[in-house]
Amino acid sequence: MEKIKVAVIGATGAVGQVFMWMLADHPWFEVDYITASAARVNQRYGSTVHWLLPFEMPHAIRDRTISEFSGETMKERGVKIVFSALPASVAAEAEPLLRDMGFYIFSNASAMRYHKNVPILIPETNLETLSLIEDQGYPEKGFVVTNANCVTTGLAMAVAPLRKFGIKEISICSYQSVSGAGYPGLSSFDITDNCIPYIGGEEEKIEKEIKKILSFDPVVDAYCVRVPVMFGHLEAVWLTFEQEVSIEDVLKTWDEFREVPDLPSTPKLPVLYDGSNTFPQPKYAFWGTPKGMEVYTGRIKKRDNRIGFMLLVNNLVKGSAGGSIQNAEAFVQKYGLL
Ligand SMILES: NC(=O)c1ccc[n+]([C@@H]2O[C@H](COP(=O)([O-])OP(=O)(O)OC[C@H]3O[C@@H](n4cnc5c(N)ncnc54)[C@H](OP(=O)(O)O)[C@@H]3O)[C@@H](O)[C@H]2O)c1
Repeated sequence: MEKIKVAVIGATGAVGQVFMWMLADHPWFEVDYITASAARVNQRYGSTVHWLLPFEMPHAIRDRTISEFSGETMKERGVKIVFSALPASVAAEAEPLLRDMGFYIFSNASAMRYHKNVPILIPETNLETLSLIEDQGYPEKGFVVTNANCVTTGLAMAVAPLRKFGIKEISICSYQSVSGAGYPGLSSFDITDNCIPYIGGEEEKIEKEIKKILSFDPVVDAYCVRVPVMFGHLEAVWLTFEQEVSIEDVLKTWDEFREVPDLPSTPKLPVLYDGSNTFPQPKYAFWGTPKGMEVYTGRIKKRDNRIGFMLLVNNLVKGSAGGSIQNAEAFVQKYGLL
């Protein structure tokens, strides 16, 4: 089977590196074109990138050359799908431009997330919203599909199957790793031996995005804290239900949460619970497919009509690049691009 040619724009950043790693041996997609900021054009990926991931860079990507940002050249080379790992300010110009040229863009940036016809897609929770690409003009035109802010992705995965019990309020406190701020991110002076109880714009994103993704309207209160951890976002969540729900019902619901399309990047069990008091922790490896695509829950508690739990999401895999790749797989499966 011939693979689909894709581009990764912003290939040298934290999210871009995970795209490069995950796409290096993807069964459907083949990276044909990569870009970064103008200063890196014509440089060899393996020499110019500051590799951040806790394992070796795949050999297959080291000799790739960074190209200039050119939609025309991408078109000439037969690229159809573009994975975007650009900062929001850059994406705000680049993504509409590429969409107007007919590309299918799967983006991590927040720039287009709140546009009416642009889905914030998480295939396990709202696959039906993929059809919004038709409102953007597909198949005649290109489109943008976004994924959520990384904390929201983990939250949406755990909350989606519990909506059937009637959720009135969501209260969340996140403990977010430094990789969530990209590279070079925060100054080591600020984050070493410290926690910072504010991440600009993050709380508003969670409050807004969870409602758009899950098409419901609970009261959402969020605190976001940056912690001195490299990878993974931990979240302490309390859900207030319309009536009492038992711990057993919640665990059974997560265990039965299998309404997932069968895609190369979709894990068999997307939300896993472990009853140990010390689970989940970002310290333990949770990379790869399916591991980085799974959401881990633990420490469940009940008080009247409220259920509390901790959850962990890999912000760079399920929370960004892996989520985008899965979204592109969902598109290819539904619209038959292969
Ligand atoms: N990090 C996360 O956990 C996470 C999670 C979800 C969503 N996101 C979103 O994903 C996007 C990427 O995040 P990140 O953490 O990977 O950021 P990052 O580490 O700062 O990487 C940004 C990438 O964009 C490139 N870039 C920067 N300015 C550019 C310009 N003017 N023209 C062309 N390319 C440019 C950079 O190239 P150079 O290396 O050459 O500068 C780099 O490849 C952001 O929108 C972010 O909000 C991030």
